[in-house]
Amino acid sequence: MSFEKNRQIHALIRRIEIVAEDIVCVELSPANGGRFPPFSAGSHVDVFIDERTIRQYSISNDPSDCSYYRLAIQKEPQSRGGSKAIHESFRAGDIIRIGEPRNHFCLAEDDVKVVLVAGGIGVTPILSMAYRLTAKGTDFAFHLCVRSRERAAFVDEISTSPFAARFELHLDDGGPQQRFNPDNAFADLTQTSAVYVCGPRGFMEFVTGAARRSGIRPERIHTESFVSAAVDGEEEFEVVTARTGKVLLVRHNKSIAETLEEAGICPILSCEQGICGTCLTKVISGEVDHRDTFQTNAEKIGNSMIAICCSRARSKQLVLDI
Ligand code: FES
Repeated sequence: MSFEKNRQIHALIRRIEIVAEDIVCVELSPANGGRFPPFSAGSHVDVFIDERTIRQYSISNDPSDCSYYRLAIQKEPQSRGGSKAIHESFRAGDIIRIGEPRNHFCLAEDDVKVVLVAGGIGVTPILSMAYRLTAKGTDFAFHLCVRSRERAAFVDEISTSPFAARFELHLDDGGPQQRFNPDNAFADLTQTSAVYVCGPRGFMEFVTGAARRSGIRPERIHTESFVSAAVDGEEEFEVVTARTGKVLLVRHNKSIAETLEEAGICPILSCEQGICGTCLTKVISGEVDHRDTFQTNAEKIGNSMIAICCSRARSKQLVLDI
């Protein structure tokens, strides 16, 4: 998988509002009128927050309508400037820069029956998928799991949508009867059914584990996580920059990218969370401890590229093509 820097688009914030606790919804239209590039369900765009900060957010609206993109951004308690800046400084009427839509969480064309499962803000790509599956006439169910009703975005819209009857809301603070039960959700699925899950990492592990146990084929279990990868580790290791011959010690509380920056080498970064693939760097030797969610399992096993914003080393030394 290779990353290509995509074209930037100027977008007008035509509407911005809080739609749930700590979640702001941002509707964008092309700054020069017309329509945005088409997008497929599950797509995300880069949002350029300032010269140094780029974040990725899923498009949540119906993919048949590219006159606008709708994003929903949860204010993260540990925000390093991304979500916090959007919540605090973005205003209706502002012109911002975004990238063209990209999709690492695509719906397969041949799914016969689908279960969509969203945890919290993971509803954003899943909602777009619900619109697309409805348009295709695919049989599906849509589960949204949240801590409380106040934290559930887009429920009013879903409740009046063409797929309202397929939707179930599960609240952590509600009674046991309405909690998400994967055994029930996956009871009617066959090997060729598909499950799409988006949410926090632990939630996704819970759901995908249940999907595997119910007999769904692994290649039909699709996930996307918004949670940043942990960059720290127990072990320190060396990075050798093959192009300049520097040998750098990556301390346990630093990422490779931070270590390079401290040594005067500035890698191109974007999400800094292992999500976007911008920082992927060729591995010449050494074994990678992959922490990103961008590469596939097969690519990680191939050990040819490393996301230097978050991944670490299993070997004492990594030689990178930098
Ligand atoms: S900067 Fe996005 S994966 Fe590293």
